[in-house]
Amino acid sequence: MSRIVVVSNRVPVPQGNAGQAGGLAVALLGLMQRRGGLWFGWSGAVTDAAAPPGLTQRGGVGYATIDLTEAEHRGYYTGYSNGVLWPMLHGLPHLMSFRRQDLDIYRKVNRRFADNLVPLLRRDDRIWVHDYHLLALPGALRQRGVLGATGFFLHVPFPAPDAAAVAPGIRGLVQDVLQADLLGFQTLADRDNFAATAVGFAGAARLAEDVLELGGRPVRLGVFPAEIAAPEFAATAAAQAATEPYQLLSRSLRGQALLLGVDRLDPTKGLPERLEAFRRVVARRTPRSLAMLQIAAPSREDVVAYRRLRQELDSAAGAINSEFGEPDWVPLRLLARPQTRDTVAGFMRQARVGVVTPLRDGMNLVAKEYVAAQDPADPGVLVLSRFAGAAAQLAAALLVNPHDAEGMAETICAALDMPLAERRARWRECWAAIAETSPEGWGENFLRALGPDDLARLPAAGT
Ligand code: ADP
Ligand code: G6P
Repeated sequence: MSRIVVVSNRVPVPQGNAGQAGGLAVALLGLMQRRGGLWFGWSGAVTDAAAPPGLTQRGGVGYATIDLTEAEHRGYYTGYSNGVLWPMLHGLPHLMSFRRQDLDIYRKVNRRFADNLVPLLRRDDRIWVHDYHLLALPGALRQRGVLGATGFFLHVPFPAPDAAAVAPGIRGLVQDVLQADLLGFQTLADRDNFAATAVGFAGAARLAEDVLELGGRPVRLGVFPAEIAAPEFAATAAAQAATEPYQLLSRSLRGQALLLGVDRLDPTKGLPERLEAFRRVVARRTPRSLAMLQIAAPSREDVVAYRRLRQELDSAAGAINSEFGEPDWVPLRLLARPQTRDTVAGFMRQARVGVVTPLRDGMNLVAKEYVAAQDPADPGVLVLSRFAGAAAQLAAALLVNPHDAEGMAETICAALDMPLAERRARWRECWAAIAETSPEGWGENFLRALGPDDLARLPAAGT
């Protein structure tokens, strides 16, 4: 059986590497632990000089990671990946901050990834590259003579061609990623936006709905929505009731309805808009009848837009509490710290309303986790942005436009007042959309599409 080689910027090497909140790591970890293989990427460390990969073996997975130098981290990660590509891909061009040298460094780091990976490769490896940090990698691997099956999955959205064109350098990067054999997207809209961009700006031809061609090479396109292990997450959430964090939160609520947000502290997550909607909810409801907990794990703190957002949230949260708080009650609890996955699962189970309102999101696994965490007998209500990829699957959630604060406030109030029968009916539909899928199934679907393999010899997902 051919080996799977996963390449991603963020590599969640077990023990080590703090701060792994993020959909990519969550989606891939289970698959790799079950299948084995090699996982290559950034160690998470920033050091003085570029050194060759460090190797760690854990279970059946080999982790090969390289450090970034200060200049690489600034140009490739903070600068071009998160200061240009991330906002562009999420349709937020006003947050872009482009410096020509960052694009050069981005391309250089992609070449460095290739240089360090190639000596570790075997001839029949199947290579699976992940996300916007590594758009140039498929091209760099081909240039170095790698001929084997190479797939690429974009975890984030892809915008319409005119919106994509605002990122300087995107044309060349689209051409580079087209050197892969299979490109995977979260939704049909992302696939079609990418295809239109490749045709409109990068000289590709669309041979069929799901086939592009560039320079005589065909590239297949597919849609593979990222999934969570819903039954496992449900069991984790249910098991939390006996734990201290669960009970401390529960006791502190004294019967108040809990609204919950769980995100990385990121400009795409619509956090100021969410707090504004919450402010309007508080203004309408009886004091002490509800409380919101917003957990916002700090992320990418070297990017100016993220630092500004932190200040904006601190200030908005303070304003809500000073306006509406009582001597014995505050409406909003804002935590700028990650919590463990288990703790989050328990909090989700306690929350009457899950508020997941990104301005734009590739998938948003938190939405699926919130559904999975509910008690089927007395489930909470998911309020979900229609601009999250998850909205395509979770149509029974209450879908909102995160730019409409008043509309969101009305919907949150409707969620708070929703009768049990409707909560159950909506939850059952959402649960049905996620119960049978798994990250392993997601990965196997992609790998099956990438190329033939003797999958039959593997145990079925979840066994
Ligand atoms: P993104 O990939 O943009 O961060 P997702 O919602 O797809 O967004 O995935 C985020 C993952 O990280 C989820 O599994 C979620 O539970 C976890 N996560 C996000 N924020 C936090 C937080 N503040 N504390 C703990 N876990 C978090
Ligand atoms: C999103 C991206 C991932 C990234 C994660 C966390 O899920 O799609 O590629 O790993 O956010 O962000 P970070 O910058 O900490 O890796």
